[in-house]
Amino acid sequence: MIILGIETSCDETALALYDSDKGILGHILNSQVKIHEKYGGVVPELASRDHTCKIIPLLDKLLLKVHKNIKDVNLIAFTNGPGLMGPLLTGAAFAKTLAWTLKIKTIGVNHLEAHIFSAMMTEPNLKFPFLSLLVSGGHTFLSIVKDHGKYEIIGRTLDDSAGETFDKCAKILGLNYPGGPEIEKKAKNGNPKLFKFTQPKVDGLNFSFSGLKTNFIQLIEKNIINNKSFINDNIHDLCASIQHTIIKILIQKLHFAIEKYNPNNIAISGGVAANEEFRSCIQKLEKTHKIKVLIPKKEYSTDNAAMIAIAGYYKYKIRKFTNMSINVDPRYKLNYYESV
Ligand code: KG4
Ligand code: ZN
Repeated sequence: MIILGIETSCDETALALYDSDKGILGHILNSQVKIHEKYGGVVPELASRDHTCKIIPLLDKLLLKVHKNIKDVNLIAFTNGPGLMGPLLTGAAFAKTLAWTLKIKTIGVNHLEAHIFSAMMTEPNLKFPFLSLLVSGGHTFLSIVKDHGKYEIIGRTLDDSAGETFDKCAKILGLNYPGGPEIEKKAKNGNPKLFKFTQPKVDGLNFSFSGLKTNFIQLIEKNIINNKSFINDNIHDLCASIQHTIIKILIQKLHFAIEKYNPNNIAISGGVAANEEFRSCIQKLEKTHKIKVLIPKKEYSTDNAAMIAIAGYYKYKIRKFTNMSINVDPRYKLNYYESV
């Protein structure tokens, strides 16, 4: 069967076609970064309008690219939360209207669940339970995935997410949003050990990043007094050092989680998983712990619709269809329980 995936939870209009026999046929994405850049964050109303304008031309382009007709689509999976209300509604309304005209069913997909299961793009037969680390712009948490829809959260951030830390530090440095890729580019020519930041002291498997951000601001404020061009003069080393510290924290907690839970497989997902340094640290961890780590290709680590289509397919197998009313949940929670 062929599933059309639709992702519009924030500032990317993304579509994908997934064939349950052949895998991902193709995916396409339009980023709104240029629209929101000047406002320093995503403007929900502008995001909704842009999704509305772009979604049909993008679908046409995708169908052309993969040589398919809209009538080949058997099911539509769309993101129904968490995310921004307007953008979510745009995607949901589009999905339901299209499904109604094609006389096919729709499945609402939790965006976080889709990230977690993006690991199945590299390993479709991934066995439960597995350890998951989701590192995106809105979330940073470790969980034991017991089944589709069953998560035991074993550690979470107490404040900012890892992606948010990249974004906020980039903003302080005058770099564009999203900050992660910008910091990564500049970090390539920098010394990751030049600037030292205090590591947050958080017990167990929880994370905390807000102290690190404050520490970063303090370092800049202190140095800028004597050198007005401190940021410019040290941009590469500042980026390399903050990137190195964020990644060190993530790897350390991952290491603790492996020691405690001894999992067979680990799945890493979310935008920060697109980071090269992070990926190479993960590879080292894989060798030292002799453990299998699944990490989607970069294009599937950041927001995309292929992960929505795939998660939709798993929900289809348990017949979790949505009705025709246009319901979305901007605070859609995973079906999880916390371990103590
Ligand atoms: O998963 P995602 O695309 O969207 C959310 O669901 O939040 O994650 C976006 C986050 C942003 O904070 C962005 O700065 C970060 O992922 N990110 C990166 C990289 N690419 C995206 N962080 C570090 N290095 C990257 N290459
Ligand atoms: Zn996401």
